[in-house]
Amino acid sequence: MPAVVMAESGGDASDFPAKLTKQVFICSLIAAFGGLMFGYDIGISGGVTSMDDFLTEFFPVVYAKKHHVKENNYCKYDNQFLQLFTSSLYLAAILASFFASITCKKFGRKLTIQAASVFFVMGSILNTVAKDLGMLIAGRICLGAGVGFGNQAVPLFISEIAPARYRGGLNICFQLLITVGILLANMINYGTSRLHPYGWRLSLGGAAVPALILLIGSFAITETPTSLIERGKNEEGLRTLRKIRGVENVEKEYEAILHATELASKEKHSYKKLMQRSSRPQLYVTILLQVFQQFTGINVIMFYAPVLFQTMGFGSDASLLSAVVTGGINVLSTLVANFIVDRVGRKKLLIEAAVQMFIAQSIMGIVLSTQLKATNTMPDRYAVIVLILVCIFVSGFAWSWGPLGWLIPSEIFPLEVRNAGFFFAVSTNMLFTFLIAQAFLTMLCRLKSGIFFFFAAWVFVMFFFAIFLLPETKGIPIDEMKDRAWKKHWYWKKYFNEDNNGKGNEKGDLQ
Ligand code: BGC
Repeated sequence: MPAVVMAESGGDASDFPAKLTKQVFICSLIAAFGGLMFGYDIGISGGVTSMDDFLTEFFPVVYAKKHHVKENNYCKYDNQFLQLFTSSLYLAAILASFFASITCKKFGRKLTIQAASVFFVMGSILNTVAKDLGMLIAGRICLGAGVGFGNQAVPLFISEIAPARYRGGLNICFQLLITVGILLANMINYGTSRLHPYGWRLSLGGAAVPALILLIGSFAITETPTSLIERGKNEEGLRTLRKIRGVENVEKEYEAILHATELASKEKHSYKKLMQRSSRPQLYVTILLQVFQQFTGINVIMFYAPVLFQTMGFGSDASLLSAVVTGGINVLSTLVANFIVDRVGRKKLLIEAAVQMFIAQSIMGIVLSTQLKATNTMPDRYAVIVLILVCIFVSGFAWSWGPLGWLIPSEIFPLEVRNAGFFFAVSTNMLFTFLIAQAFLTMLCRLKSGIFFFFAAWVFVMFFFAIFLLPETKGIPIDEMKDRAWKKHWYWKKYFNEDNNGKGNEKGDLQ
C-alpha cells in the first residue's frame, strides 16, 4: 500500500492533479471491509464443515461416512447437502449483485455498501443461532446478499475515488481484506474446533464483528464524485472531488466526469448498451477474467483446505493449521500486489503467476497420483511437499489473478455501462465459485488427483489470454480507458473501428 500522504501526482502527462489524501485512503479501507466479510465467509465454511460437532448436528450422514474406516480417501466428504451449505451463499450473491447494480446507479455506491453491511449482520446472527439446516442456509443466503451488494459496490467505489496512478494499489485493499478475512476465519476455526460442542457457532458468529465494523464505518465514507454527478448533484460532486483529491485545480477531472456522465445520461438502458458491439471487448474480458480466476482452482484450497489436507493424511488439527499457513501466504502475497501493481502493471503479474501456478499444480497432481491411493495415507514428507506446493500456488494467485480479477473489471468500463458491466464480473465470479463449491467434493471423488491436472490445463490457457487478449490498464484514468487502452489493442480495436464507421463522434463510439 502506498503511504497515506503523497506528493502531487506527476505520473502520466494526462493524469489529473491529485494527492493521495487521508480521506481516500480511509474510505478505501472502510469499504474494503466488505472484502473482509467476503473472505471470512469463504474461509469459515471449510473449517466448520470438517468439525465433527457441526457434522453430527446437521450432516450426520457425512459424519458417519467420515469415520468409516474403509472409506475412500477422496470420497469421504462427497455430499450434495454439505456442498450446498458452502455454495448457497454464492447463488444468493448472483441474484443480489443484479439488484446491487441498480442501487449502485440509482442510489449510489455508499448506500449499496450500507445495504451490504445490513445483510451481513443479519446473516451472521442467523448462522450463530441456527437450530436446523433451514436456518443455517437462510443465514448463508443473507450473507450471500451481503457479498453480492458488497462485491458490486466496493471495487467500483474504490476505483472511482482513487487517483489513477494509485488506483491499482488502493483497489487491491479490497482483495487484501478478502485474504485477511480468510486467514482470520482459518485461525478462528483452529481455535474453536477444540471448543465442544458449540465451537462452530463461535466461528459462524465471528462474522458479526467485521459486519458491524462495516455497518458503522459505512456512515463515515464519502460518496464518489462520479456517483454524485451521475445523480445530478454536481455541486456536491465538485466539492467532494476537491476534498478527496486534496488540490484545488480539479477542473480537468471534473470536466471529464461531467462529460462521461452526460454521455451516460443519454443511455437509458445500460444493459442494452452493454450488449452492443463497442462494449463487447470489456465484457468478454471481464467474463473471461472471472471464469479463469475461479478455474485456477483457488477455492478448492480456500473452501476445502482442511478437508483436502485431511484427505492427504494430515490429522484434523494439522489440517486446520495448514489452512492457517496457506491463509498467511495469501495475505502476504497480496500485499506484494498492493505495492507493485501500479509499477509493474497488470499483465506482467498475470503472466508470471500463470507460469508459477501451472508448475505448482502439475507437480501437485503428480505427487498425489503417485503417493495417495484411495485408502492409504500419504507419507509425511510428501504431505509436506504438497503443502509447500499449495503455498507456491496460492502466492501466485494472490499477487495476480485474485486481486486483478476484481481490479480490472472495475476500471475498464465507461460510465454508461460501468454498473451493468461490473454486475457481469460479480455474477460470473459467483456463478463459477458456486459451481466449484458445489462440484469440487464430487470431482475429487471421481477425478481424484487428476483434479489438479484439470485446473493446470485452465491455467495454461490463461497464460495465453493474458499475453494476447488483455490490454494494459495501468495508470490510465478510468474515464479515458476506451481511447487509451482498448482502441489501441491489436485485437480489440476492430470493435471500435467498425463502430465508428461514419456514425461515431470525435470521442469515439458512444452512439
Ligand atoms: C476470489 C475468491 C477467492 C479469494 C482467495 C478472491 O479474489 O474471488 O474466490 O477465494 O480471492 O483469496
